Parts: sequence; structure tokens; C-alpha cells
Amino acid sequence: MNLRFAPADSLRGELRPPADKSISHRSAIIAAMVSEPVRIRNYLNAADTRSTLSAIQQLGAIVEERDDELIVRGVGLRDAQIPTVRIDVGNAGTLMRLLPGWLACQQGQSFKLDGDDSIRRRPIDRIAEPLELMGARIEAREGRFPPFIVHGAPLAGITYPLPVASAQVKSCVLLAGLLSDETTVVEPVPTRDHTERLLLSAGAPLQREGDPQTGYRITVGNTDELELDHVDVPGDMSSAAFLIAAGVLVKGSRLVLQGVGVNWTRSGFLRILERMGAIVLCEAEPVGGFGAGEPVSDIDVSNGPIEGTSVDADEVPLAIDELPLVALLGCFAEGQTVVRGAEELRVKESDRIETVVSGLRGLGGEIEATRDGFVVTGTGSLRGGRLAAQGDHRLALLGAVAGLASEEGVEVVGMEAADISYPTFAEDLKALHG
Ligand code: S3P
Repeated sequence: MNLRFAPADSLRGELRPPADKSISHRSAIIAAMVSEPVRIRNYLNAADTRSTLSAIQQLGAIVEERDDELIVRGVGLRDAQIPTVRIDVGNAGTLMRLLPGWLACQQGQSFKLDGDDSIRRRPIDRIAEPLELMGARIEAREGRFPPFIVHGAPLAGITYPLPVASAQVKSCVLLAGLLSDETTVVEPVPTRDHTERLLLSAGAPLQREGDPQTGYRITVGNTDELELDHVDVPGDMSSAAFLIAAGVLVKGSRLVLQGVGVNWTRSGFLRILERMGAIVLCEAEPVGGFGAGEPVSDIDVSNGPIEGTSVDADEVPLAIDELPLVALLGCFAEGQTVVRGAEELRVKESDRIETVVSGLRGLGGEIEATRDGFVVTGTGSLRGGRLAAQGDHRLALLGAVAGLASEEGVEVVGMEAADISYPTFAEDLKALHG
């Protein structure tokens, strides 16, 4: 589906962005590992997180969808059922990399996972290596791509320094570590910590040492069972980021985005915006009750001038999915915007260094790709044109925001890709047109 996003006069109003995709995936997977029912409020209703519900159902969990919550009746830590057909992870990298952590603990059982064309290009050797060190066996196409089979086994504890700063790999090893004697993951720099927060809420014996400068050592092990009553999923910072960027760039805009998760391991984008001089205000409140253990806030955004900035490797994991928007903002900023140490962008839903640079150049942006990021020369405006989403949801949403802020508008080719994380984006935008 092609959709044209015309230049907007101003965006105004209040809106609740969709639920957090990362936390939704984790809450469903962890709920499947609990034997008592878990209530999940505000679970993301989008293609990626529906793949996770299908996967846990194939593994024996029962999912009941009520008006405003899901009830998941899981199977417990050790009793995942063997599906009759392969588990289809669709486009969901987080599902593909987290679920095997649990499957690897299912002694003597084997599970086959596969997904769409994009997922088949994304490496899984990063999870196969630690799981094999623990004693599981993974058979993958060409040794590193889906489809792949996880052969569960009794797992030995390991200490695993992450070779890439990846929350997905960390989470996979922590889930597997629950049924080992003791497993420690060592992060080179901090990455999103939703798994740790949820496991702590579920009573897992998890300890974390370290600080934001040195990174963290996270240890789990010897877990009899998990206990989780309910999870409240906050709004998704990565989806809100598209509206925040639109509010900053479109003249005369003033938006309030309600109930967004502002965990500091996810809110690097807000700190980057602050350096760029954007007017974005938020106040973190702890979420009420016993839930995902995440701080939430309303975010108040106003249009205003911005200047270029640099983003370096240690900040990259804290804003990894928002870096395409940093490139777009850079086109409108005064001076240069440089992102370095972000080679991980090359193995996302698309090669996001390549697709963002060619997409924005096609709209008139002055942007160059580097091995591990990009350099943007701000010109204060963007002409517009056509941008192909290439099956990548964040590229489709980027094209839409570029259109609103551009001189001539942008036609996004393949807008349906947005259904992966933000199916209601076009409708939400209509509600914000002043
Ligand atoms: C995610 C972690 C990030 C991010 C992805 C979601 C998660 O990937 O890009 O969209 O939910 O853990 P990596 O951990 O591989 O960097």
C-alpha cells in the first residue's frame, strides 16, 4: 500500500502511543513460563507481538483476550509442549532471539523456528554461541540464519561477556540461565533492561552489579518457578519517537504524548534531542502497582529550531531504534549530525544504514553512509518525494514523518510495514492535525 504524507501546518493535541513492543514480547514469553495465570494489561496489538502470542500458544500456553487485558495461562519453566509445526516468528527479531533461551532448557525436546524473508537474513549465531556453551545444540541454515532448530538439554551455568551490546542476546542468556546453576551476562555498555525488571517482578533470583559507565554484570540461576500476577505495559518510546520528531519538526506544533515508558535504557533519544536543543519535557513517575517495574511519563513536545549533534557507541544501544529519526532530524538541524559505532543497524529489519541513507537522499537530504553510522549535513529543510519502506516498519514511519515536515510531501511505498509495531499511525496522525 502506498500512502502520501502531505506537509502539515501544525500538529496539536494529546495522544496515547501504542504499547511497548519489547515489553509486550517479554511479558508474553515470561507469562508462558509461569504456571499460574498472568494478566497483561495494554499488550501491543500489532503483527510482531501477535507472532509471540501464536508462538506461546504453540508451546502450550492458553491466551484469553479480554477487552482491555490478556490472560495467559502458561506451562511453567520446564514443560513447554512440542509444536506440531514449526514456530513462525514472522518479522519479530526479539521473539526469534529470546524464545530460544527458554526452549534450550526443555531437556530432550527440539523446536524449529522460522520467519519471513527479512528474518531469514538476520543472524542467530549470536544466541547460538552462548546456548551451545551452556550445553544446548542449535542447527541453523549456513550455521547462522533461520530456519533453525533448538535442541534442549540440561544447561550448565556460564559467564558470558556479550560480544555485541545486544539486549536480545542478554535476555536470551538470562532466560536460559534461570535453569542453570548460575549464569552471568557481562554487558560492555548498558542495553535495555526490561527482561531484568520483569524477571525481578516474577521473583527470579536475579542480581545486577555495575553502573552506566562500566556496564553491568547480571546473574541468575537455580529458579524453581516464576510467580507473576500482572504486567502493565507502558507506551512505547520507540513508537512515540516518531510523533516526538514530528512535533519538533512541524512548524507551530505542540503535542502531549501520554503514558510513555521512559526507562533510561530506552530514552537515549530524549537526551539526544535535548542536546539538539529541541523542546521536549518529561517527568518520570514509577508505574503504579506490581507490573513491569517501568517508569512512565507524559512527554510534552513543541516545535523549535535544532542543531546538529554527535552520537557515539556507548549511547547507541540506548537509542538504537530511534537512530533513523536522528538522521531525519539532522537534515533539519543547523550544522552536522554524526552517528558512530552503530554497525548493528546493518542487521535490523533492513540494513538501516543503507536504507535510511538512500531513503533520505532520495528526498533531498545531504547524508553519507559510513561503515558504522552516517554523517548528515543539515540544510534546514527537506524537499520530499518517494521513499520505499523495503518491508521495514521503522523506515515506513520515518518516511511518513519526513513527509509531514517536508516541502512537497512524501509518498511511502509499502506503508503496510508499519503494522509490525504501529498499525494505527496514520489514524493517530489525523487526530493530531490542527
Ligand atoms: C530489542 C533490542 C534491540 C532493538 C530491537 C528490540 C529488544 O535489538 O533494536 O528492536 O526488545 O530487546 P538488539 O538487542 O539486538 O540490539
